[in-house]
Amino acid sequence: SKGTYPHFMLKEIDEQPSVMRRISQEYFSSKGEVEVDENIVNSILDSDRIYIVAAGTSYHAGLVGQKIIEKLAGIPVEVHVASEFGYYPPILSRKPFFIFLSQSGETADSRQVLSEVNKKGHPSLTITNVDRSTLSREATYTMLLHAGPEISVASTKAYTAQIAVQAVLAKALSEKSNYESGKQFDLQTQLALVANGMQEIVDEKQLLDDMSRRILTDADNAFYIGRGIDYNVALEAALKLKEISYIHTEGFAAGELKHGTIALIEEGTPVIGFITDKLSAGHTRSNLQEVLSRGAEVFTISMKRVANENDGIILPDVDTLLTPLLSVIPAQLIAYYTSLNRGHDVDQPRNLAKSVTVE
Ligand code: M6R
Repeated sequence: SKGTYPHFMLKEIDEQPSVMRRISQEYFSSKGEVEVDENIVNSILDSDRIYIVAAGTSYHAGLVGQKIIEKLAGIPVEVHVASEFGYYPPILSRKPFFIFLSQSGETADSRQVLSEVNKKGHPSLTITNVDRSTLSREATYTMLLHAGPEISVASTKAYTAQIAVQAVLAKALSEKSNYESGKQFDLQTQLALVANGMQEIVDEKQLLDDMSRRILTDADNAFYIGRGIDYNVALEAALKLKEISYIHTEGFAAGELKHGTIALIEEGTPVIGFITDKLSAGHTRSNLQEVLSRGAEVFTISMKRVANENDGIILPDVDTLLTPLLSVIPAQLIAYYTSLNRGHDVDQPRNLAKSVTVE
């Protein structure tokens, strides 16, 4: 039930700090050791490449998971949209391992790929919120998200849970293979920081309602931009906003704007920039400057270590690999308030179903 909440989406956004704490409890022993089924770890270490297959928001979580697994565990990862992979598969490596990311575990596009993978005899892992769902039953292994039921069509806590569980997996792989960067990564401490950081952000929701009323409620188009992992979040932020507010929104790699899309910037076009990484902060800021000088309404979501005092919202610092866990929260709230302020059905947007069981 929604309890005292007006919508499931808002409740599910607010639950994210406790989902992070639950994942930490489920996957770490009392001694602080990461605990993942050894068969999963061995099977992945026995492979030469991971293929992540997913749709929608779960695909976006996979893009972040790729960066985390490659950095922490040193294993090459490819991420694919299930509906494309199904009929136009890439050339596979010699020993592929498949990861299916799916909140519901019922997405038909992913099921179709899994049934091909099973025919070829490749090992697979489903990371899902629903135990004994179809994808969970049909894959070799399962890891659960422990996010609790997600009712709103717009996926929120499943995205952050998928990222956290992929980090758990990466950590377990690095412990077993002695891969230094993962071994040194204190995931348990980071997840605690993330949970506290998420709480700070959801406590500031009013700010995002105000921002939405100021620059989005009457907008026809909007853009999210970022580089690296911030670009991955920009894609998710754009999907969230478009699916429930019906504003045409695109996520772009900040550096790509000037190669065409900047032509769409007019007086008042909202452009929201993510800036969490020192490496690219300067460049993304100049991209925001470029759109500002063409009349865009700019809002910046930045992390403390790279923040300027007039940024729209400043997130507390966490490790670069986990920044999406915090930076997506303002985007979820922006989508929520924009949908609400435009008078739409937040939890049941038009033309959409919670799980897409047709190809
Ligand atoms: O249940 P799944 O994670 O497999 O669902 C995948 C997509 O259908 C889902 O994430 C969809 O994109 C959401 N409505 C996005 O908010």
